Amino acid sequence: MEKKFSRTLITTALPYANGPVHIGHLAGVYVPADIYARFLRLRGEDAIMVGGSDEHGVPITLKARKEGVTPQDIVDRYHTIIRDSMKELGITFDVYSRTTSDIHRATASEFFRRLYDQGKFVVKTSMQPYDEQAGEFLADRYVVGTCPKCGKDGAYGDQCEACGSSLSATELINPRSALTNAPITMRETTHWYLPLDQYEEALRKWILDGHKEWKTNVYGQCKSWLDSGLQPRAVSRDLNWGVPVPVEGAEGKVLYVWFDAPIGYISNTKEILPDSWETYWKDPSTRVINFIGKDNIVFHCIVFPAMLMAYGDGFQLPDNVPANEFLNLEGDKISTSRNWAVWLHEYLKDFPGKQDTLRYVLTANAPETKDNDFTWADFQARNNNELVAILGNFINRAVVLTHKYCGGCVPTPGELTDIDRQLFADARAAGEAITSSIENFHFREALKNAMELARLGNRYLQETEPWKVAKTDPARVDTLLWAALELCASIAVAFTPFTPFAAGRLAAMLGMGSMDWEMIGSDSILAPGQSIGQPELLFDKISDEEIAAQTDRLERIKKENVIKNFKAEPQAPDVDFDTFCRSDIRVGTVLECSKVKKADKLLRFLIDDGMETRTIVSGIAKYYNPEDLIGKQVCFIANLPPRNLKGIESRGMILSAENADGTLTVIGPTAPVVPGAQVK
Ligand code: MF3
Ligand code: ZN
Repeated sequence: MEKKFSRTLITTALPYANGPVHIGHLAGVYVPADIYARFLRLRGEDAIMVGGSDEHGVPITLKARKEGVTPQDIVDRYHTIIRDSMKELGITFDVYSRTTSDIHRATASEFFRRLYDQGKFVVKTSMQPYDEQAGEFLADRYVVGTCPKCGKDGAYGDQCEACGSSLSATELINPRSALTNAPITMRETTHWYLPLDQYEEALRKWILDGHKEWKTNVYGQCKSWLDSGLQPRAVSRDLNWGVPVPVEGAEGKVLYVWFDAPIGYISNTKEILPDSWETYWKDPSTRVINFIGKDNIVFHCIVFPAMLMAYGDGFQLPDNVPANEFLNLEGDKISTSRNWAVWLHEYLKDFPGKQDTLRYVLTANAPETKDNDFTWADFQARNNNELVAILGNFINRAVVLTHKYCGGCVPTPGELTDIDRQLFADARAAGEAITSSIENFHFREALKNAMELARLGNRYLQETEPWKVAKTDPARVDTLLWAALELCASIAVAFTPFTPFAAGRLAAMLGMGSMDWEMIGSDSILAPGQSIGQPELLFDKISDEEIAAQTDRLERIKKENVIKNFKAEPQAPDVDFDTFCRSDIRVGTVLECSKVKKADKLLRFLIDDGMETRTIVSGIAKYYNPEDLIGKQVCFIANLPPRNLKGIESRGMILSAENADGTLTVIGPTAPVVPGAQVK
């Protein structure tokens, strides 16, 4: 690649510190960013990767209130978990800081102040929900009421979780404060707005004309925003958690979280490079790359660039914003509030030493062009059939054979034949394919090409059969195993960005010194005569039991969520007592119970009702083993007219309760009673 840049600044979306990070964050942002950073470093380029926690915003204050702790307590807790777990996964941030740091407050504050002083904002007043009792303005999330779309109560002022509609607080019916439950009032408030409309032309030119090479999902979203016309956006909020608006008379106002958070990229760079940070932000030979998820596109491609344009002073706009789509989990959208996620810190506990497997699977299955699904079955299959059976297997064969036939040293090759030369030519081609895929942010493709190196190795050993040649031509075996080991060394380099732990162990096993990306496909990485380490397995199989533990956990969470989300049906209209009393409800003892042929929902009961043996057919076959009901007492309505069901005359109806998940459970007395007892 012709180098037109001297250095790269890699930014990674700052995760909200209101929960731990999950596989969706990793697949979307941190794993690809880390692959990219490690790749650039291996090429000897000047690259830094900055990250940190996003510690402001309303959801953090809500969580704090719910737990009765301070927002600072919440962010301290999750910042620590996020930072430590990402480190353990081998995400090589040059800095991982936080937006509650002093340096960030000062930087964000100064940023706002400069725009303010230069008259870049417009001031607008608007009516906002207010809680008279608490004496506070309310963010949309703090307003609750009845959803105008589906009629369910408990909808939030920004969205209804029952029907998924986005709302605004003023649309809610009967809106109340989530703090005090008092009805809200509307009050006038003043905020600063960034007039995005004034930057529309410049943004159009920069993105639509200048960056046609961006991923189609990113370019397309930008185009649709720009085509529908930009509006001024408020950059302050009435809230007591955040960076205070540094203007007199702005008490009780803070910077909007989406104003301060991206400035965090700058503050965090400053934190590690107090003297040279400006080179990474303002030198035109710096290339800025923002790794984000698709929900962040507008902020990184429109809002933050407009902020930087307004600020001026040479700040560089991103050269690329390779946003990913979303990763789902077992077919459902990942959700922090519903606990529907694989949490990184839990994964690391459940699968110690298996960081590479997660990195590998999330890359192989990355949601680069469309939403993708993570399943535990795929995770296990990729580990066992790819990492173990292809990559680990080749390395192990090469090292074991070297110990068996070459005394555990890198042999000296003899004359090369076509098949040997072809091996290195193919490896170089794979290396070039990896390089160009990574340069274009196609990490799945890059990983596939890296795996091609291991496939080449397996094929080479299969075709040349050193274990057979050993009997006839020991000198040739030296050449074969030398070539295989050189390929192992290429693999150590090529896999460093993807599976850095295994790559490091492999490099140590081979006694490699420092690595360089250009080595991939080379035939002279290792020194003949040098001894190599004992074979050790780079990857272990993952058992069915380990996978079952994970899928059981998800099943459990699904059930818990169904129960949590249960909302009782509104009460039916009154009936008068006499009408009710005309129903003859009784208790009977189940004498026999069996499945009804050709009707998978129905069970046939014979019931001792105190007078005779009565037949009742009931639609609960899905929820019971017929044998389990024999001897139980059940309630039934005795005076319904007989009905014919699948040729059986049913005389009455067995009463059941419907659970949140739609399952039915039969109702009976809590202590034995005589058959025929009336329910009153
Ligand atoms: N916290 C945001 C999210 O998780 C991302 C912030 S990115 C930054 O969606 F640029 F604002 F830092
Ligand atoms: Zn609704």
